[in-house]
Amino acid sequence: MSVEDTLGRPLRDFRISVTDRCNFRCTYCMPKEVFNRDYEFLPRADLLTFEELTRVAKAAVALGAEKFRLTGGEPLMRRHLDRLVGQLADIEGVADIAMTTNAALLSKHAAVLKEAGLSRVTVSLDAIDNEVFQSMNDVGVDVQTVLDGIDAAANVGLGPIKINMVVKKDINDQEIPKLAEHFRGTGHIVRFIEYMDVGATNGWRMNDVLAAGEILARIEEHHEIEPVDPGYRGEVASRYRYKDGSGEIGIIASVTKPFCGDCTRLRLGADGRLFTCLFGSEGTDIRGPIRDGATDDDLVEIMRGVWEARTDRYSEKRTESNLPFPRVEMSYIGG
Ligand code: GTP
Ligand code: 5AD
Ligand code: SF4
Ligand code: SF4
Repeated sequence: MSVEDTLGRPLRDFRISVTDRCNFRCTYCMPKEVFNRDYEFLPRADLLTFEELTRVAKAAVALGAEKFRLTGGEPLMRRHLDRLVGQLADIEGVADIAMTTNAALLSKHAAVLKEAGLSRVTVSLDAIDNEVFQSMNDVGVDVQTVLDGIDAAANVGLGPIKINMVVKKDINDQEIPKLAEHFRGTGHIVRFIEYMDVGATNGWRMNDVLAAGEILARIEEHHEIEPVDPGYRGEVASRYRYKDGSGEIGIIASVTKPFCGDCTRLRLGADGRLFTCLFGSEGTDIRGPIRDGATDDDLVEIMRGVWEARTDRYSEKRTESNLPFPRVEMSYIGG
C-alpha cells in the first residue's frame, strides 16, 4: 500500500525521535541559556514506549516507508535502545535502519546495536580541532571520544558511516578541509550541511550560512572532485568523489538549494506527535489515539490522513512571510 501527499510525494522514510534529551549543548541546537537546569524536558510518561513506537513504525511501513532513522536529541540517551532496534528489525519490508548520533556513547553501544539489527550510523561532528569542537558541543567532550565511537562502529560493521558537519560561517568553516582530509581514504563519507533556521532558539541569521558553492570551493582548493549521481530519488546530499579515488563527500544545501520537491520524510517526535516537515509547529498527536485503544488499522488510517493532507515545502518558501512560528526544536524532532 502506498500513499501520496497533495504534491504527489510518496512516504518512504520514517524518522523516529526517541528522546528530546542530549548530552551535548551544541550552540546552534541546544544553547545553554535555554536548555539549562530549568528547561522542562519531556516526562517519561509522555514518551512513547518501544511497543508504541513499533506500532507506529509498522503503520508507516504499511503506507510505504522503507527506511527508518533513529534520532533524538541523542538517541543513545534512551536506555535499552537496542531493544527498540530489535523490534524494528523484525518488521517485514524494512531493509535499512540508521541512527544519527553524536557518538559520545557509541563505543559502549556499537556492538549490541549491530547485533540487534541496526544497519548503519551517521555521526554528527562539527570540527576535528579539539578546541573548536569543544566550543561547539559546549560540554567539554573531546573529539577523540567521538573518533573512538566512529572506529567502534566501523569495527562492528555499522558502515558505510556518514559524518555530518553543520557549517557555521566564521565559527567552524576553517574546519571544512581538515575534516575532509581526516576522513579521506577511510571509506567514511563526510557531508557538509548548510546551517538551517530550525527551531526558535538558535538565533539563526542568513549571514551565518556558508553556501554550498563556497563549501565546495574550500574543498577544491585542496583536491579535484567530480559529481556522483544520487543514490536514490530524493537524496538530500549532493554527492561528489575525489578524482584520485580516495573517497566521497556530500553537500546538503537545504538553504540555498532546497529539496522539498522530493521530500518523502515523515517524522515522529518522542512524545508521539507526527510531523510532515522539519519546520512544523504543532504536529499531529498519535499517542492519544494509541492510548485510547486505536487498532493497528486505525493507526494506518490516521497516518494516511496526515500524509494525504500534506502540503509542506518550507525550505522552498523560506523567504515568504506567514511561516509557522514557533517551530519545533531540532533537539526534539531530530533533524
Ligand atoms: P541517508 O541518505 O539515508 O544516509 O540519510 P539522510 O542524508 O537523508 O539523513 P540525515 O539525517 O543524515 O540528513 C542530514 C541532514 O540533512 C540533517 O541533519 C538535516 O540537517 C538535513 N535534512 C535531512 N532531512 C531534511 C529535510 O527533510 N529537510 C531539510 N530542510 N533538511 C533535512
Ligand atoms: N542546521 C543544520 N543541521 C542541523 N543539525 C542540528 N541543528 C542544525 C541546524 N540548525 C544537524 C546535526 C545532526 C542532525 C541531527 O541535525 O548536526 O547531524
Ligand atoms: Fe548537538 Fe545533536 Fe545534541 Fe543537538 S541533538 S545538541 S546537534 S548533539
Ligand atoms: Fe521536507 Fe520540510 Fe525539509 Fe522541505 S523543509 S525537505 S518539506 S522536511
